Amino acid sequence: MKNQTWIKLTFALAVPLGLALTATADDATPGTLPPAAAKQGVTYTGDIKPIFDNSCTKCHSGDKPKGRLKLDSLDGALKGGKEGKAIIAGNSAKSSLVLRVAHLSKDDDDWMPPQHNRAHIGPLTPEQIGLIRAWIDQGAK
Ligand code: HEC
Repeated sequence: MKNQTWIKLTFALAVPLGLALTATADDATPGTLPPAAAKQGVTYTGDIKPIFDNSCTKCHSGDKPKGRLKLDSLDGALKGGKEGKAIIAGNSAKSSLVLRVAHLSKDDDDWMPPQHNRAHIGPLTPEQIGLIRAWIDQGAK
């Protein structure tokens, strides 16, 4: 009888602990690629700059932008960073910037904004990612 009590206790503790571990693991699960927004005529100035200003330019502007990538101008965004172009005009699904914000790059260190960054800048919403995709698919103007 005593043994069974221990077994029950172990299960009672292990199950919630297991769930808690699964829940933390889920935070780091790669995302899916949200569909491109249906909106036409998406532009950097009209639609994308506000998103970048809100979530990216704290680290991606100024004299020493992270990854040598500036996102505070259209030229900077198109030029890319130390790893080359992050945007392939006309192909959002192959653009590394999109894979990073959608958490599709394999290494979660690559996700943007970085998880748990000190500035507490959270991930983009699927709607914002959809708009960035539409902008890139429409030629990144
Ligand atoms: C809190 C700081 C921070 C924020 C906010 C941030 N990034 Fe980054 N970003 C980094 C760092 C750090 C690197 C990697 C630098 C390195 O590896 O040398 C990086 C690298 C990148 C790169 C790769 C550049 C290259 O060629 O190496 C892309 C693309 C990128 N970020 C996009 C974004 C986008 C889009 C946003 C906003 C949605 C964003 N980042 C927000 C810090 C940030």
